[in-house]
Amino acid sequence: MSKISFSVNGEARVLELDTRTTLLDALREHLHLTGSKKGCDHGQCGACTVMVDGRRINSCLTLAVMHEGDEITTIEGLGSPENLHPMQAAFVRHDGYQCGYCTPGQICSSVAVLEEIKAGIPSHVTADLGAAPQVTADEIRERMSGNICRCGAYSNIVEAITEVAERQA
Ligand code: FES
Ligand code: FES
Repeated sequence: MSKISFSVNGEARVLELDTRTTLLDALREHLHLTGSKKGCDHGQCGACTVMVDGRRINSCLTLAVMHEGDEITTIEGLGSPENLHPMQAAFVRHDGYQCGYCTPGQICSSVAVLEEIKAGIPSHVTADLGAAPQVTADEIRERMSGNICRCGAYSNIVEAITEVAERQA
């Protein structure tokens, strides 16, 4: 067992965990933040995506004890039913989901994607590495390719992300 202190959605949390506990299990089983989903538990689906110090990661692929002192943001920390994050509101407006299982991961990933583009980080489909990447449908598809949606809500997800990007511009 090991003691770990980190901040989750702005709140300081201290847990006593088996060192083998993934960040996803720490969030879901120990902190009861069940918004982050366990789809595959081995880095293939993106349902468990959360942000650590502003960067998106698959929380099933990292151990909680590796995050001492980190700031973790889950879907619960982005917005609330009464006060949706703009990306959550856009997913609702564009029907960016059906069953909703992949949605928390999709939304955490989308928020981080727009930050990555803003920070000038290129992707595999960025044609000109010397220019700032743009928010195009191709860029969104490539950057969101780690988030699988079995319901196939992809085109609506791209529309939702595009709308938020346009509003931010
Ligand atoms: S549950 Fe983590 S990537 Fe699928
Ligand atoms: S909305 Fe069902 S898996 Fe994406």
